[in-house]
Amino acid sequence: MTKTDQHLTVAMPKGRIFTEALHLLKEAGFAMPEEMAENSRKLTVEVPEEGFTFLMVKPVDVPTYVEHGVADLGVVGKDILMEENRDVYELLDLNISPCRVCVAGMPGRGPSLNPKVATKYPRIADRYFREQGQQVEVVRLNGSVELAPLIGLSDRIVDIVSTGRTLRENGLVEMEEIAHVTSRLIANRASYRLKRTRIDQMHQQLTVAVHGEGVFK
Ligand code: PRP
Repeated sequence: MTKTDQHLTVAMPKGRIFTEALHLLKEAGFAMPEEMAENSRKLTVEVPEEGFTFLMVKPVDVPTYVEHGVADLGVVGKDILMEENRDVYELLDLNISPCRVCVAGMPGRGPSLNPKVATKYPRIADRYFREQGQQVEVVRLNGSVELAPLIGLSDRIVDIVSTGRTLRENGLVEMEEIAHVTSRLIANRASYRLKRTRIDQMHQQLTVAVHGEGVFK
């Protein structure tokens, strides 16, 4: 396989999704090298025998790499797809890294006159509260969002909840669920046309790894 025809560049999210995504690729029958480790500092990993280049990127940037075509494929949480609204194909629900996008806050705290909501997901929050007919001021943060209600920066937060540990350890409670989230395989639109055979084959292998052999019977 030459690097010019059906070689695939895949944007992989560093952090919580990485280990599960790597495990799934192995389950799907791809031989992943040792240097594809979560704690590695390497930002690109070549797997010539499988015809892959992997790019290790921040999860929120995965759709950007794919939309611009520097990656043919990407693995990314549905939360980020909902927030980023990028022009990419969503090919497959990989059913990994399940979590929920939730509204959370301090228990027993009544509504305030001009409620503020702190979040890494300003578009999701804005859309949700508009749909609910609630006027809120959205305050954008890049992490440690659970701190905001504790120190009076916001009344509530919109964030992902996985185990619930971060909420618990900070005395917050889940109030409303906005969306259930899992990770997805996404594709660049042009790559999907030009490398269709290879992408379909990978899609099929991953589908079997996710749903079992019976899925195509
Ligand atoms: C995410 C999220 C919550 C936490 C939820 O943060 O923003 O803070 O994980 O997980 P849990 O329910 O299992 O506790 P992340 O670890 O990505 O770090 P960040 O706060 O720096 O964004």
